[in-house]
Amino acid sequence: MRINGQDFQTIWLDADGRRVHVIDQTRLPHRFETSTLATMDDAAKAIRDMIVRGAPLIGVTGAYGLALAAAADPADAAIAAACETLLATRPTAVNLRWALDRVQALLLSAAPAERAALAYAEAGRIADEDVACCAAIGDHGAALIRAAAERRRGEPVNILTHCNAGWLATVDWGTALAPIYKAARAGAPLHVWVDETRPRNQGASLTAFELLSEGVPHTVIADNAGGHLMQHGLVDLVIVGTDRTTRSGDVCNKIGTYLKALAAHDNGVPFYVALPSSTIDWRIADGVAEIPIEERGPREVTHISGRTAEGAVAEVQVTPEGSPARNWAFDVTPGRYVTGLITERGVCAATESGLSELFPDLAG
Ligand code: MRU
Repeated sequence: MRINGQDFQTIWLDADGRRVHVIDQTRLPHRFETSTLATMDDAAKAIRDMIVRGAPLIGVTGAYGLALAAAADPADAAIAAACETLLATRPTAVNLRWALDRVQALLLSAAPAERAALAYAEAGRIADEDVACCAAIGDHGAALIRAAAERRRGEPVNILTHCNAGWLATVDWGTALAPIYKAARAGAPLHVWVDETRPRNQGASLTAFELLSEGVPHTVIADNAGGHLMQHGLVDLVIVGTDRTTRSGDVCNKIGTYLKALAAHDNGVPFYVALPSSTIDWRIADGVAEIPIEERGPREVTHISGRTAEGAVAEVQVTPEGSPARNWAFDVTPGRYVTGLITERGVCAATESGLSELFPDLAG
């Protein structure tokens, strides 16, 4: 995508093909800065500290982290230890395990001297595949938006999204935002309601930054506004991303997604979830019982950061000193509330048969 007239993806390699560069998402939207990952520990820290975030991008960063580890020490034990370190960074998005398993299996089948080169090549393939998957998700989802635009007879289609499932959460295009970009570029009239997404405000900071850069009409709203907008006919479609989808179609996504799905269900608003197949965890069926939900530190709830009038980025406390806080980062929306899953192979029902018909080669 284009930022300040320059094309960017979220992760790329040095000219020497060894060091990894990423956009530092903790600095957005106020500063556009990049960060260099020179070691596996740098990659682990970037994921843990959310310099990179979003399920697909976490997976690609993990894959490059393993390449950095293999370049430093290609022995079996070092690779196993690196996988363990990287896997422990964030527990919910399954793309991380998927990417690490894929690179590790390849490395263990090769001689140690060949491993670093193989790992970089495989991480690059995972990144390229992610771009292709997201572009295809965009095409399939854009058809849904175009159909809604026809029903609206030229009035803008109002789409609500939660968190950031845009190009910043992937390598390029995004998942939930890819259909919006594709439809908007093709001239479909649309407007996006952007949930702020407390506590880290990925909607207000990252989704708004993306849509503004792309020139897509949008309005940032408080997280709790969505239900009210739906009751008043101001939302035609909800599209969100997911960090892990079970084989039965339960979707785990940023905290608050479930409440949006309930409100959409109550108001007859279609609720779509966009995902590449790398986000499907075929091993599990019951999302509420089986998906590990990350709990982050309370400071993200008790404090909020933003830019001061003088241009400095500052953090302020919003709770009284001494009030305890808890911070669950994700929740699970049962498949019964999901109108459809928008994947790289098309749109399917959020059910075991829907997913396995679309992905017979991946379903167990
Ligand atoms: O905590 P984050 O910012 O990594 O959470 C991101 C999300 O919840 C996204 O919606 C999800 O990863 C899908 S991204 C294409």
